[in-house]
Amino acid sequence: MEKRIEELRAAASRALDAASTLDDVENARVRYLGKNGEITQLMKGLKDLPAEEKPKAGQLFNRLKNEVDAAIKERKATLESSQLDSALAADAFDVTEPGVRVGFGSVHPIEQTRRRLEDIFTSMGFMVLDGPEIESDYYNFEALNIPAHHPARDMQDTFWLEDGDLLRTHTSPVQIRAMETYRPPIRAIAPGRVFRYEVTDASHENTFHQLEGLVIDRDISVANLIFAMKTLLREIFERDVEIRLRPGYFPFVEPGFELDLSCLICDGGGCKVCKQSGWVELLPCGMVHPNVLRSGKIDPEEYSGFAFGLGLTRLVMMRYGIDDIRQFLAGDLRFLRQFA
Ligand code: DAH
Repeated sequence: MEKRIEELRAAASRALDAASTLDDVENARVRYLGKNGEITQLMKGLKDLPAEEKPKAGQLFNRLKNEVDAAIKERKATLESSQLDSALAADAFDVTEPGVRVGFGSVHPIEQTRRRLEDIFTSMGFMVLDGPEIESDYYNFEALNIPAHHPARDMQDTFWLEDGDLLRTHTSPVQIRAMETYRPPIRAIAPGRVFRYEVTDASHENTFHQLEGLVIDRDISVANLIFAMKTLLREIFERDVEIRLRPGYFPFVEPGFELDLSCLICDGGGCKVCKQSGWVELLPCGMVHPNVLRSGKIDPEEYSGFAFGLGLTRLVMMRYGIDDIRQFLAGDLRFLRQFA
C-alpha cells in the first residue's frame, strides 16, 4: 500500500510539473483526485484493509491527498499569473511612441466672413434672417417688381424646377418675407446661398453666396444708405477702402446703384478678377421701390427704405486675395487648410 502511495505521489507530481496550461492542471486533478480518480479509487480500498493497518494507511492517504491538492492549487496559481503576464505583455504599448495626429477641420472662409458680417450688422441693430433656397416665382421675381416677361429676368439665368419653382437667384426674396413677417422699422440682413445657370470661370460660379440687407423706416434716404455701406466696408476690411458709386438698374430699387470696390487683389492695376478694370462690383444697392414696399404690405407714402445685395463670395475673394471663385466649392483641403 505504501509503495502504491509513493508511486501515485510521484506520478501526480510529474503530471503537474508537465502541465503547461490550466486545462492540463484540471485534467491532472480529475485523474488523481476526481470522483473516479486514482487516489480516490485507492482510498476506497482502505475499508478492506486489516483493522490494525487502517490508521496508518488513513494517515498516509490524507497526507497524499493534501499534498496533491496543494500542488494542484500552486500549479494553477503559477499558470494563472504567467497567463496574466503574457496577456499584459501582448497588450503593452510604447508610451514614448509618437501618436497619430487627429486632423481638425476648419471653418470655411465664406462661413468665417459670414459670421464676421453678422457680428458687424447685429452690433448695428440688424436681425439676421433666413430664407428658403427653393423659391417660388412670386418671391424671387414677381413681388420684387419683376413681372413675367420683364426683360430684367434675363439678368439672372435661372435654374427652373419642373413644378414652376426655382433655385433662388438672389437673396432678395427674403426682403419680401421680412416685410410679411415684421412691421417697420425693419433692419435685417439675410445671408445665404444663391444659384445661377451659368458657365463657370474664374469669377463665375453656379452656386455662390450673397448677403441681402434691408432697412425700412420713416425718412430713410440715400444718405443713410451710403453711410451704412461705408461703415460696413470699413469694418470688414479693417481699413479705409476706395469705392465708387454708379447708377445701376435693378427693378426692385429706385434709384439703384452699383457700388464698386477698388480691386484689392491687384490694387486697382487690373487682373482677371476685376477683368482688368481695377474695380469689382461688390455692392448693388438702392432705395426700395414703392411696388416692392406694396408687395410687403407697407405704405410707400409713410415709409421708405434701402436695400443692398452684397456679393458675399466676392467679398471673401477680396478679403483673402483669392483669384478664382471655383476654389470655394472644389473641396481641395490644401486650399481650405489655409484658413484654419
Ligand atoms: N438681387 C440682386 C442680384 O442678385 C442684387 C441686389 C441689387 C440686391 C440691388 C439689392 C439691391 O437689394 O438693392 O443681382
